[in-house]
Amino acid sequence: MKSEGRKKIGILTSGGDAPGMNAAIRAVVRTAMAHDIQVFGIKRGYEGLIAADIREMSAKDVSDIIYRGGTILRTARCEEMMTEEGPAKAAQVCKILALNALVVIGGDGSLAGAAKLAKHGVNVIGIPASIDLDLNCSEYTIGFDTAINTGMDAINKIRDTSSSHERCSLVEVMGRDCGQIALWCAMAGGAEEVMIPEHREIDANMVKRLVVENRGKGKRHNLILIADGLVNTEQLSRDIERLTGIESRSTILGHLQRGGAPTAADRMHASMMGHRAVELFVEGGENRVVIMKNNKYDDMDIFEALTIEKPYDHRLYEIIKILSI
Ligand code: F6P
Repeated sequence: MKSEGRKKIGILTSGGDAPGMNAAIRAVVRTAMAHDIQVFGIKRGYEGLIAADIREMSAKDVSDIIYRGGTILRTARCEEMMTEEGPAKAAQVCKILALNALVVIGGDGSLAGAAKLAKHGVNVIGIPASIDLDLNCSEYTIGFDTAINTGMDAINKIRDTSSSHERCSLVEVMGRDCGQIALWCAMAGGAEEVMIPEHREIDANMVKRLVVENRGKGKRHNLILIADGLVNTEQLSRDIERLTGIESRSTILGHLQRGGAPTAADRMHASMMGHRAVELFVEGGENRVVIMKNNKYDDMDIFEALTIEKPYDHRLYEIIKILSI
């Protein structure tokens, strides 16, 4: 992508929104300003890019957003990027606008979209953002910390009423394909059981045995964390009540975990990663993704990032079991 005069970068947020995306946008825009780089905000992720729904951003456009959840650029899961033509159209828009780089803030699908654009000659820089903590290339993804704290707050409240009524409480959290939210919420909330996509073997009868055993041990509540999409949580709650005679209630936290003001950790990491993304561009980096590795900010080739396989680590799941006796 050639350009004359000031350098230009585009920025978009894509996929499921995540608290802290705004802090990352702010950091990208303001770091770019510090280098006299023009920034173009793209609405609704790749959908807006294909439709050329783009406008220049100023430092003022990102005032008062660091504390806000969601994304001021809005977001979408763009079906067209899954086709042959979609990425080609999006890359053409980048060329027409003479963007020197495109910063993509999102999860695995969004970074995969960025890699497709890179194949069409667009210089892309990815920033990992997903409440699910499901990117193999990075130990941290923007939004996870807020999501687990929201989950933990809800669990604390449910535990109060569950103990008072001596009920079994099923709490469904997000993370359709990755159990990290459920695991962290289970650990932080002191849950008795956790059901995640990585361990599908648990069924109503196993849960029933556990609930009955726990009651026998004198536990006043049974808190069971379930990842989204695994079972019909409301039905499981009814089955447990029928099988054990212990009153059960289900709560589906759903999109509650995707919203809300980002935690300090999410604001901090999102700001640092946004800053790093622009610095990478200034240093001549091409097709990189900002990551966290060994607790430090780092970056790597976006194609390599997408091929990393991370075997599931059983330890957290097992320690939760040990601690829930
Ligand atoms: O963005 C990730 C995620 O929030 C998952 O945790 C959840 O399973 C899914 O998205 C929900 O998707 P949607 O917003 O399309 O309902």
